[in-house]
Amino acid sequence: MKLFLDTANLEEIREGVRWGVLRGVTTNPTLIGKEQQDFLPLVKEICSVVDGDVSIETAGDDTELLVRQGHEIAQIADNAVVKIATTANGLAATRRLSDEGIKVNMTLCFTATQAILAAEAGAYIVSPFLGRLDDVATDGLVALSDICEIYAVQGYETQVLAASLRHPIHVVESAKMGADIATMPFKVFEMLVKHPLTDSGFKRFTDDWEEAKPHLGELLPSMQEA
Ligand code: E4P
Repeated sequence: MKLFLDTANLEEIREGVRWGVLRGVTTNPTLIGKEQQDFLPLVKEICSVVDGDVSIETAGDDTELLVRQGHEIAQIADNAVVKIATTANGLAATRRLSDEGIKVNMTLCFTATQAILAAEAGAYIVSPFLGRLDDVATDGLVALSDICEIYAVQGYETQVLAASLRHPIHVVESAKMGADIATMPFKVFEMLVKHPLTDSGFKRFTDDWEEAKPHLGELLPSMQEA
């Protein structure tokens, strides 16, 4: 399962890239708005920093307008993916853009029926929103599980991107269900690596190493510095 960051913050994206595990980025109007920067230079910079897909969301719900925006977004960079909401007009735009070979991420997907439609429209990615379903007392993981099962049975090539993830269990369960991608805020991304036993174990090994070092004779050159 590929790990994406759900952010438009360049510092967070650069840190994810530094870890060597970041495979892409998703943005949305809320995340872009938070950065308070000029839109085009910001999204161009994100695309240049990340070696992987960067979803950039369209605005409005008019098919012709969505198609035009799709053409413009696709011109931003080779790794730019057009993000379109799963509406009837969005499906129509996705069909047209997909037929032209433009990659579309159908977003704001909350049901298996919407996911079937996205795949039938030729979407490159479909994004079920788990956390927002949980917020309205509907288990987002059940929806994701249905979608993954249907896609496997039907042999759909559209990638399933588990979105609106709020905690590490969402990430683990998404991986178990066979999601192709999981996108998450940097806060959740950081939680994936943290464990108190790793921290305490590391401190103990570091202290023991310091104590033992003077009695260990010849060390590897790089270990002298540790
Ligand atoms: C995905 O592409 C969306 O940007 C995102 O996951 C939405 O998450 P939220 O429900 O935390 O806003």
